[in-house]
Amino acid sequence: MDLQSPKGTRDMLPQDSALWQWIEQIMREEAALAGYREVRTPVFEYTELFERGVGDTTDIVQKEMYTFMDKGERSITLKPEGTAGAVRALVEHKLYAEPLPVKMYYLNNPIFRYENPQHGRLREHHQFGMECFGVPGPTADTEVILTVLTILGRLGLKDLSVNINSIGCPVCRPDYHQALKEYLQGHFEELCPQCKERFNRNPLRVLDCKERGCQAIAKDAPSILDHLCQECEGHFKMLQELLANEGVSYVVDPKIVRGLDYYTKTVFEIIMQSPRGPIALCGGGRYDGLVEQIGGPSLPGVGFGIGTERIILQLGNEGITEPHASVVDVFVANIGAEAKATAFKLSTQLRREGIKADCNHLDRSLKAQFRYADKLGVRLIVLAGGDELERGVIKIKDMKQGTEEEVQLSQLRARVAELL
Ligand code: HAM
Repeated sequence: MDLQSPKGTRDMLPQDSALWQWIEQIMREEAALAGYREVRTPVFEYTELFERGVGDTTDIVQKEMYTFMDKGERSITLKPEGTAGAVRALVEHKLYAEPLPVKMYYLNNPIFRYENPQHGRLREHHQFGMECFGVPGPTADTEVILTVLTILGRLGLKDLSVNINSIGCPVCRPDYHQALKEYLQGHFEELCPQCKERFNRNPLRVLDCKERGCQAIAKDAPSILDHLCQECEGHFKMLQELLANEGVSYVVDPKIVRGLDYYTKTVFEIIMQSPRGPIALCGGGRYDGLVEQIGGPSLPGVGFGIGTERIILQLGNEGITEPHASVVDVFVANIGAEAKATAFKLSTQLRREGIKADCNHLDRSLKAQFRYADKLGVRLIVLAGGDELERGVIKIKDMKQGTEEEVQLSQLRARVAELL
């Protein structure tokens, strides 16, 4: 076939849906337990939002956005991340006037980045994210980290490491930038071409460059942690205490800087060990200046985003599958074409009772219906037709127990419910 899905995109097929829904259910439950409510914002926003929010010196804004002019000559961008849209909604609808904190989550937000597709890297991916507004202290940072770890724990994922850092605030970061630039200046010629560019616009990003040469230079660079102001230092110390109190093992990694400009103080990543090397499964942090930057009041925020496709990749790496869920639980087979309408009616009646049921929509023989029912993974097959139906009774076959029984037609729904 010459028509395929665009490069870097994936279909979620019906056979994948149980896995996605299992993950989504756990995400919803854990977010709700911590008092977060769902927000859904448009798939596209005015480009300016991301230029202002994500930062026009970032790789995302400079190279990766899907931007186009609409028919009204407005520059539109498909969401390259979830936080800016959530903040825009908060500001536009003055949600900050509600009792603070305002807590929201987004579930499988489609995110678009024009990147080179590779293992775990797509052009459209889906993010679950949580954002907490209005809490300056590190309990909120800890809350979001704990929630994502609980979600990953419930999914059964183990092979993960939690890396945290503080990248300071507008008070202490300029001083650090200065120290870092002085150090990098001495190695300027050895930097990769991209880091040479970063040197002026965003020197912090040199620290997480994947090029070997840059990594060697970054190894001996001054650490941001030696340049934090008192407030940032206190915040970071308290965060670590709170995490330790919750039994979270973490690594302090001063090289985590994140690829978005809005972060202040806490940044963190959860890293998975894939057969092709480490990949970030989740990334987040604090962004105390962002709400104001988008035109709202001065209101701190903290949150994270986690890619569902990467979760699925890691579930595969760790050999984890979702708990078995049948497509339907009951198949109402018809013996002979005359019983088709009755079988259809019985299946719709069962559905009304909340029982997952289906029937023979095609002209399958009885034998073929059994084969089909087996593929659906049904527990019970109800046999409609033959002389039983004339006698007002109906046969139920229990595929798990290997048993068979006859019940009065009027008792069918109750008996099926009992057997399931
Ligand atoms: P991010 O680190 O850019 O952060 O993305 C978060 C997560 O999205 C990543 O850890 C990864 O799982 C997934 N992801 C990112 N890019 C791709 C891709 N090309 N293909 C597949 N998965 C990908 C943010 O987007 C921030 N908005 C997170 C945040 C929320 N910070 C505060 N609040």
